[in-house]
Parts: sequence; structure tokens; C-alpha cells
Amino acid sequence: MADDDYLDAIDYTKDTLDVEDFKEIRHAVKLQDVFRTYKFGKEEITALNGVSLVINQGDFVVVSGKSGSGKTTLLNIIGAIDLATSGRVFVMDVPINDYDESFRSTFRLDNTGFIFQSYNLVSTLTAVENVMFPMQLSSKNQSELRDDAIKLLEDIEMGHRLDHLPWQLSSGEQQRVAIARAMANDPAIILADEPTANLDGESGQMIRDLLAKLNEQGKTLIVMTHDEDIINRKGVRHFTLKNGELNQNV
Ligand SMILES: Nc1ncnc2c1ncn2[C@@H]1O[C@H](COP(=O)(O)OP(=O)(O)OP(=O)(O)O)[C@@H](O)[C@H]1O
Ligand SMILES: [Mg+2]
Repeated sequence: MADDDYLDAIDYTKDTLDVEDFKEIRHAVKLQDVFRTYKFGKEEITALNGVSLVINQGDFVVVSGKSGSGKTTLLNIIGAIDLATSGRVFVMDVPINDYDESFRSTFRLDNTGFIFQSYNLVSTLTAVENVMFPMQLSSKNQSELRDDAIKLLEDIEMGHRLDHLPWQLSSGEQQRVAIARAMANDPAIILADEPTANLDGESGQMIRDLLAKLNEQGKTLIVMTHDEDIINRKGVRHFTLKNGELNQNV
């Protein structure tokens, strides 16, 4: 079978598609000639300009590029937060661009975990409540979910700060809570947008180590960053975005 034919063979009947029913996932992410343009008054901005990319499960992909080059746009499209203007977007072999928001939001919760530069924790929720937040679709009861969230926080040495609100945590601690939250539904893919940009040396190193550990555990990592320590990690596939065009660095 040609590389792309299998995608046509899958029955993508709306509402019945469940990634877990797939016998085998071919690619974590596959982008085919993806464009994202924004209309801004009379101007048209091309944030992504024909991006094609295949990411296998377990890959550690890093994309760097100047401010405005399209990094966040690319991450949002892979994370099913934003829609491509044209081209095809497959995540875990599912053409997420073809589905409505309700499908995409469930898909997003199940399959991807997001980590942001500025943590994006809910300011009125404690550390453990922030981690429980994405678990809303689970069939478990609140006390089981809380136990799961505590376990995730303990795994990243945050067990002593469970009931702190975000403002009662240091920057590095907030980012660790954000990592635990990204892991809440045990997603196959972790997406991170400049995760170490706001952190000092020691906290940054802890986050780098945690990301590496997640990749060693089999998670697919897609990280937008200029952080040389991440880019130069062994096994990292490094790409550069320039004016919305993606190129692989060799
Ligand atoms: N909602 C929007 N409407 C119009 N233009 C947008 C919108 N979002 C992004 N853009 C433009 O698309 C381009 C890519 O933006 P994007 O946020 O992806 O860049 P980035 O590489 O993440 O930059 P940074 O490093 O500053 O975060 C920029 O020129 C930006 O101004
Ligand atoms: Mg950005």
C-alpha cells in the first residue's frame, strides 16, 4: 500500500471514530501542504505557508523561528485549537480539520497535552484542581480523579504544594503544575510553546529534564523553542520556521 492510501481506507464516519479502535497508528502527526492565512482588514497574512511534516510516535520535534514566523499557529493547528485554511492535518491518523468543534475538543482532551510559555493555570484553582480540570470527561468520581492528580503532581515533585493557588507558586513550580495538567488524560502527544522562556537556570533545567523524561516514556513531543539545550538534545529533530515555511535542519 502506498504511504497515503491507508488514510483513504479508514472509515471516518462522524461521531463513531475512536482512535483507540485503530489497530495501528501510523503517524502521530502528518501535515500535507498546510496553509493558515488570516484576514486583517484588506491585508492577508500568511502565517503558515505550505507546511508538510510527518512526525512519528515517540519523536522529539523542536521548531524554532523568529517572532511572528508561525510557531504558535503551527502548534495550535496540530493541537486542534485552530483550523488550517487549506491542506490536510492528521493527528493520530485522524483528519482533525474535517470535524466540528465538539469532536475536536474531545479529541484534543484525549490526545494532546498543552504546555504554554506563561503556564496558563486557572488562577482561582489550586494546583491539584488545575490538574483535575482537563479530567472532566472521565467516568471516575471526584475523589479518584483527585488521587490521580495528586499522583501526577507527586511524580514531578510537587506533592508538597497541592493546595497552593498559582500566585502562591514560583514560576518553575507553576510550569511543573502545567506539565502535570498536560498529562492529566495521559495523551500520546505533548505540545509545548516556549516552555522554558520565562524560567531561570535551575527551573528551566528541571522542565527540560521533565520533557526529556516524558519523551523517554514514549510520548511524542513537539516543542516550539529557541532553547539551545533542548535543540541540541540527542535524538531531537530540529526544524526552523521562516515566514511560515518549515525546513528541517540537518
Ligand atoms: N488572529 C490573528 N489575526 C491576524 N494575524 C495573526 C493572528 N494570529 C497570528 N497572526 C499573525 O500570524 C503570524 C504568525 O504568528 P504566530 O503567533 O504563529 O508567531 P510566533 O512564531 O508564535 O511568534 P512569537 O515567537 O512572537 O510567539 C504573525 O505575523 C502574526 O502577527
Ligand atoms: Mg508564539
